[in-house]
Amino acid sequence: MKTSKATEKNINIAAKLLLKGGIVAFPTETVYGLGALASDNKSIERVYAVKGRPKNNPLIVHAYDINQILAITKNIPINAHILIKKYWPGPLTLILPYKTSSNISPIARANLKTVAVRIPNHPIALKLLKTVNAPLIAPSANISQHLSPTKASHVKKDLGENLLNENDMILDGGKTSIGLESTVIDFTCNKPVILRPGGLNINTINKDVKVSYIDKKSNNTQPISPGLFKKHYAPNASLRLNAKFPMVGEVWLGFGKDPKNIEYFKKMNLSLTGDLNEAATNLFSMLRLLDKKNIKNIAIKSIPNKEIGVAINDRLNRGASN
Ligand code: TXA
Ligand code: MG
Repeated sequence: MKTSKATEKNINIAAKLLLKGGIVAFPTETVYGLGALASDNKSIERVYAVKGRPKNNPLIVHAYDINQILAITKNIPINAHILIKKYWPGPLTLILPYKTSSNISPIARANLKTVAVRIPNHPIALKLLKTVNAPLIAPSANISQHLSPTKASHVKKDLGENLLNENDMILDGGKTSIGLESTVIDFTCNKPVILRPGGLNINTINKDVKVSYIDKKSNNTQPISPGLFKKHYAPNASLRLNAKFPMVGEVWLGFGKDPKNIEYFKKMNLSLTGDLNEAATNLFSMLRLLDKKNIKNIAIKSIPNKEIGVAINDRLNRGASN
């Protein structure tokens, strides 16, 4: 499977491959996505197969502009419009009612009456979408339940052996800037519900529209996102969260200034200055690096549960669960 630099020429080639039923991995501002035409059942079947993704876990439809979104959704609530206007293109995915007369593959939607949509904020993703001139589905380009890819080399490592069709391609656009997936909000319930904390800060969203987490105690009938299976985003190593100091046999993954007297331990640091955005950008790539070195046990410093730290802690908790 070929990795090509995302030049204008190669983006044009990638668009042609997609239109012929190929699968193209491309960068977004969050993580790399595994793209295929959103209307093409056959290539979407293959996307599920190469990722090893359960068929009941629907995909996000990526669009170039709002007109493409309006063509596949209906009854968009006013609060969703407010977020669309303010945060798209950007790391925000909305679950909206699906317009049944449109042509998004039922396999991509896991046969639901809803559809997940987003306009990504990345020049390569937008250029590709514009050239194809049709929406693309794009799950994160990793093996299901593994860490999402923030570099083209991560995609190659996870999926290179499965993407062997002559129409498949990886577009290399360098490291993604946010490093964690988009925030997912469901607008098909009575009240907007956060299905996945992500690149867009919930506190920021809350200033415009009140969104809340699923109330697990209430007896509501809200559809829970199939992608919220507990184990997810997992490295091979086992993670000990909120650690103050490494134990024998552990590698230390710090945040902010390292504790004293850890010079005998192997160590990495998500952000020496305690910058949450930097930590988010580094999280998946550092965990992948530690996996590559065959590290079995990682002790991770506690991460403040604010701003994008909420999404970092969500991924760490899932990555640490069995
Ligand atoms: O940042 C991102 O969102 C990346 C980039 C490539 O855009 N994509 C991504 O896709 O993370 P994926 O497939 O790894 O995650 C999509 C999430 C899953 O948790 C899935 O269950 C949920 O969105 N989802 C998709 N359609 C849904 C629907 N109709 N109802 C509820 N949840 C849905
Ligand atoms: Mg994913």
